Amino acid sequence: MHKIDIDIAGDICPVRIGHDILGELGGQCRDLGLGRQVALVSDEVVAERYLQPAAESLRAAGFQVLEVVYAGGEGSKNLQGAEGIFTRLIEAEFDRSTWLAALGGGVVGDMSGFVASTYLRGIPCVQVPTTIVSQVDSSIGGKTGVNHALGKNLIGAFSQPRLVLIDTDMLRSLPRREVVGGMAEVVKHALIRDEEMFHFLEDRLDEIVAMELDAETLDWLIARNVGIKAAVVAEDEKEGGLRAILNYGHTIGHAIEAATDYGRYKHGEAVILGLIGAGEIARREGLWPEEERRRQDTLLERLGVPEGLSEVGAERILERTKADKKRVDGRSRLILGRRVGEVEIVEGVEDDVVRSGIEYVQQRY
Ligand SMILES: NC(=O)c1ccc[n+]([C@@H]2O[C@H](COP(=O)([O-])OP(=O)(O)OC[C@H]3O[C@@H](n4cnc5c(N)ncnc54)[C@H](O)[C@@H]3O)[C@@H](O)[C@H]2O)c1
Ligand SMILES: [Zn+2]
Repeated sequence: MHKIDIDIAGDICPVRIGHDILGELGGQCRDLGLGRQVALVSDEVVAERYLQPAAESLRAAGFQVLEVVYAGGEGSKNLQGAEGIFTRLIEAEFDRSTWLAALGGGVVGDMSGFVASTYLRGIPCVQVPTTIVSQVDSSIGGKTGVNHALGKNLIGAFSQPRLVLIDTDMLRSLPRREVVGGMAEVVKHALIRDEEMFHFLEDRLDEIVAMELDAETLDWLIARNVGIKAAVVAEDEKEGGLRAILNYGHTIGHAIEAATDYGRYKHGEAVILGLIGAGEIARREGLWPEEERRRQDTLLERLGVPEGLSEVGAERILERTKADKKRVDGRSRLILGRRVGEVEIVEGVEDDVVRSGIEYVQQRY
């Protein structure tokens, strides 16, 4: 088992990564000295496969488990969805000695984390992420929250889980599209911080996408990515500066998601398009040479670049980049590549340059 303890302003968040370790959930939680009553929250898809083993492990360790299963999906990650969970907790008379365990992808994790951070002004939360996105990204760093009709992730809190237990075996049941979307964040991690991992991905990407990687190597890959996200977050918990590099590919990616009303692309798919757009902008700005851009795009093409972006107007996408929280004085602040494994925060990128990045993606895919 890989063990990573994330130190965030002196608070330690333990992350445990391995295969076939879901059965250890109860024991690990008992060691944390958590209260006897726990709400185990999951969506219907995940619950069907993994709720019983998770609940059994908790019960075997002496916990009393309230199972909270709801429909799931991005459309459920809102205040009404959260209220549904609050209601279950109140009805079951959960007091301040209780806690919550989130079993699922980023949707379950973000919403459960938010509920835990606000129920009775905060009860502990344990994350058991079940997708690549949630194992390498959303469960690490303490960002929790829900969407509002006017925008994604607008309501939430910073709140670190007491434990993140990652069983990589659960990834084997993911649909291919979820694997690709999750791997977009893994490729992003390699591009911002880890040339060696990028090289590994160049060697083994096909096996990973087919989910045919052997268990030890998959554990290593997930742990390596947790390490990258954890290191960036530990240096900059509340996104003052460095944490922004995790948004590589996300300015254009988020704009594409918004311009298509979040219905057309998975987040990770939009990130793939955003990375390619940012790569072109970096080339135009003279930051990285053509060959680095080609190396990035070749790997992304193997992962799978969604087609049809030309049907969405470039202006419409550009407009949406202007909603980016990182914009200053009418110009964009972008994360751009220096070389594979290193990026830079670039202030004051002109709209014309951003537009040319968007158009580049549209012309090619
Ligand atoms: N908090 C953060 O820092 C952060 C970072 C990145 C993303 N996010 C959020 O994460 C969410 C996306 O997360 P996601 O991609 O995990 O989506 P998700 O939770 O919707 O999961 C995707 C789909 O896979 C299914 N699924 C989950 N685990 C499975 C498994 N092991 N086998 C088979 N099917 C499984 C789910 O039921 C769902 O249908 C978004 O809401 C995003 O805003 C948050
Ligand atoms: Zn992302």
